[in-house]
Amino acid sequence: MPIVCKSAAEIDKMRQSGHIVREVLDAVRALVAPGVTTMDLERAAEQKIKDLGAKPAFKGYYDYPCVLCTSVNDEIVHGIPSEKRELKAGDIVSIDCGVVLDGYYGDAAITVPVDGSLKPEIEKLLKVTEASLYKGIEQARVGNAVGDVGAAVQEYVEANGFSVVREFVGHGIGTKLHEEPQVPNYGARGQGPRLREGMVLAIEPMVNFGEPGTRVLSDKWTAVTADGSCSAHFEHCVAVTRDGPMILTQ
Ligand code: MF3
Ligand code: CO
Repeated sequence: MPIVCKSAAEIDKMRQSGHIVREVLDAVRALVAPGVTTMDLERAAEQKIKDLGAKPAFKGYYDYPCVLCTSVNDEIVHGIPSEKRELKAGDIVSIDCGVVLDGYYGDAAITVPVDGSLKPEIEKLLKVTEASLYKGIEQARVGNAVGDVGAAVQEYVEANGFSVVREFVGHGIGTKLHEEPQVPNYGARGQGPRLREGMVLAIEPMVNFGEPGTRVLSDKWTAVTADGSCSAHFEHCVAVTRDGPMILTQ
């Protein structure tokens, strides 16, 4: 499949989907607290998406059962919301949400502390992961390569003593949730497809506190760190424009 470039009008539509994703994430973030279940977050997100006139992007996609992915502590991505998963003091939870509005997709993720009792090293994991996303976004420029994005993320994460996940990657996005190209959070500068005006990338570093290895639980979705260490995830959709990177999910 070729990489699809979007017109300015299409990017505008994607900004609308992106705004909705952000509103949903803000609403869900406000609910995160000890004693809340990940299914509580799911229900709030589903209602909010409906209220804003959009459709969830993940539910039914490859048979995924929910509108959110909620990944707690050592869960990296694709945690399935559950009535049984109660958030506790000191936990972190990654919240990933996608919507489609008028045929165009938006996709973003945040990782938040459940309360004020995070260990300083886990606080650093969240800070570094979010900052690594912006290092990647900074490279989303006409004439750069996809590898420039991944290399910037990887260099920053590893310089801070953490590791990037290899088995899950970012992606192009537009009239489908997952389009070409794949956008790894690792790589070499100058390698991979060249970025052109109108490409839209979902850049989504997944950063492990310990080793980079992963495994998938028997639910066939939840990806966890192989060593049981905590993992964080932040994601934005970013358009490559002649004026530089434009974040669509804010
Ligand atoms: N943001 C994730 C991704 O882009 C979430 C996908 S969950 C799925 O891959 F169910 F939709 F696959
Ligand atoms: Co994504």
